[in-house]
Amino acid sequence: MGLRPKPFFFFRVGGFAANTKVKKFFGGGFAAPAPPPGVGLTSLALFPTMRAYTCLLLSHCSLLFPNLLFPIFSPAMDPKNRVTIITGASAGIGAATARLFAEAEARLVLAARQREPLEALAAELPGALVVPTDVADPEACRQLVARAKQSFGRVDLLINNAGVGLAGPAAELRTEDVQQALAVDLFGPLWLMQAVVPLMRAQGLGQIINVSSVLAAQPLPYLGAYAGAKAALERVSEALRMELRGTGVEVSVVRPGTTRTNFSAHRLGIGRERRSRFAPAGVTPETVARTILYVARHEPRCAYVTRGDRLGVFLATLFPGLLERLLARAIRWEQP
Ligand SMILES: NC(=O)c1ccc[n+]([C@@H]2O[C@H](COP(=O)([O-])OP(=O)(O)OC[C@H]3O[C@@H](n4cnc5c(N)ncnc54)[C@H](OP(=O)(O)O)[C@@H]3O)[C@@H](O)[C@H]2O)c1
Repeated sequence: MGLRPKPFFFFRVGGFAANTKVKKFFGGGFAAPAPPPGVGLTSLALFPTMRAYTCLLLSHCSLLFPNLLFPIFSPAMDPKNRVTIITGASAGIGAATARLFAEAEARLVLAARQREPLEALAAELPGALVVPTDVADPEACRQLVARAKQSFGRVDLLINNAGVGLAGPAAELRTEDVQQALAVDLFGPLWLMQAVVPLMRAQGLGQIINVSSVLAAQPLPYLGAYAGAKAALERVSEALRMELRGTGVEVSVVRPGTTRTNFSAHRLGIGRERRSRFAPAGVTPETVARTILYVARHEPRCAYVTRGDRLGVFLATLFPGLLERLLARAIRWEQP
């Protein structure tokens, strides 16, 4: 009698989540609710854990191969002559994007706080309009869209690229740094979307591309507030996309990983020091710009720049606890 398997033995064996250590290790991802009494072996087909994992795997096919079917289902939009506002165009990814879109003959409006680098770039890109703008200022955002409309008569594409990093232990971040990071990484894109959406709706056509980060899907230690700002930007983008369904206005996000720009040098935060055994070499800003151009052409909901970033997010979704343990071990904070 003592050896007789208890009812629902198979649930317990199959869902080895019953082992608390294993469950903790995998971040609870294998946890299955207790089956209702009277349910037999046949219910294994509906085994909740397996079902959840099947759904997860299927949903992640699009994460692993998101662009497989786009060329078939989405007709390519030609960037030529599209009036395109690029924020953060004075450096890094924004400047590379401006150059690439200029090659594709888009009509450009270049925005950032510093006028000189914008004018130097505009000298290379004939016809580009320079509008110095601090995206943290809602009125400046409205003025930027108004200037673009005044000069070109319409706005077809808004690329919300301006951004600032923020590093430090979450429990010690300074209020003013957090406020500034949120003002640039979350509120700035929001003010610009609010300014541009009525215009795009009236045109019956338009696109917004928000440059997020792979950290929006999987934060790293000491970059939590920055990751949170980008994650919030993604949620707003998703909601707006649903609100604008059927209006001809599309909203996409791009999730770059490490990119070789001066982004880290401009980062806000305590001491600005983070020691990591995990230091990917990163891609060039031109590589990210090519992904942004792809998104402008095909309007996917979300695009990664590298397969490695996409795979990282896939693994983080499958094994959240394992990944957290590895990252916590690999990344340390050192006071300067
Ligand atoms: N580099 C990376 O590893 C990486 C990874 C993932 C995501 N990203 C994202 O990619 C975007 C571009 O980053 P990047 O690497 O090109 O950085 P970057 O080289 O530091 O350039 C940032 C740009 O944003 C502008 N900017 C900063 N604050 C602004 C403000 N308040 N108003 C208007 N413009 C402002 C800067 O110009 P001014 O100083 O003249 O204003 C500059 O043009 C950011 O959204 C960033 O979060 C970067």
